[in-house]
Amino acid sequence: MAETDPTRAAIAARYAQPRDSVGPAAEDARLLPFLTRSVCRDFKPDPVPEPLLASLLACAQSAPSKSDLQQYSIIVIDDPELRGKINALDSIQSWAEAAPLMLIFVADSHRGRKICEDRGYDYAMATVDTLVNATGDAAIALSTFLLAAERVGLGCCPLSVIRNHLDAVSGLLELPDHAFPFAGLVVGYPNRFFPTSPRLPQSVAVHRNRYREPAAEDLAAYDATRPKAPEKQMHTDRYGTVEPYGWCENTARRLSVRERGDFKDFLIRKKFGFD
Ligand SMILES: Cc1cc2nc3c(=O)[nH]c(=O)nc-3n(C[C@H](O)[C@H](O)[C@H](O)COP(=O)(O)O)c2cc1C
Repeated sequence: MAETDPTRAAIAARYAQPRDSVGPAAEDARLLPFLTRSVCRDFKPDPVPEPLLASLLACAQSAPSKSDLQQYSIIVIDDPELRGKINALDSIQSWAEAAPLMLIFVADSHRGRKICEDRGYDYAMATVDTLVNATGDAAIALSTFLLAAERVGLGCCPLSVIRNHLDAVSGLLELPDHAFPFAGLVVGYPNRFFPTSPRLPQSVAVHRNRYREPAAEDLAAYDATRPKAPEKQMHTDRYGTVEPYGWCENTARRLSVRERGDFKDFLIRKKFGFD
């Protein structure tokens, strides 16, 4: 059998499909870092060199931002005492505690508002649109940092669990009003390889021209690639364990229990507008 092109092999792995089942695909090795990536949850203690961090931060800031407003901030946690306090939050797992570097990506509409008000202009953008734009900017900057870091051999994992402690994290970081911690990002050199996590097929996640509901058989086929053993199943106190248990069951269980229901109240306290 002819050897499979590495890009094609990586696409097959991304969808947990046999290599010979991949349809049209550009065989371009420059795409491999994006196709083969995964989060890292096990880090060596070696620090991330400061010059490399500086360049990765410049990569993050090279990301596009809505209207060039750059409505995000990145907080590098390099004060050991502060890092200890963040690590002590009960949602931070031991592998994240052990990561040599932690960043916090902040959705930040404070800076633009202040620049506007300093010039004596009325600030008119206390809107949901601003909230979405600032969140999007923070997310895209985080993603750009992560992809650049992975490209140079670092491992990363975003941490939305910091939002389980919105008041505590905001207080520790001295965040002003109109700014909230979107996610943390732990970074370091990986201790081991993490396998590719299969994604929904393009027939489900990608639409041509118009939105279409996914075919039940496409979801079922994906489910079969994402089995979870009974001990890894969610909310078994409510729903018990089932077989087979795939991505749809996990998604349904996760979405059936409210998480961070306090977020809107926090945003109101931080004076975000919802006009
Ligand atoms: C915004 C965001 C927040 C995340 N928060 C967490 C988190 O709090 N804890 C965690 O272990 N993983 C977190 N992740 C990592 C995802 O679980 C991971 O990306 C997903 O399972 C797919 O795995 P992969 O990136 O290796 O393909 C987060 C990812 C994103 C994009």
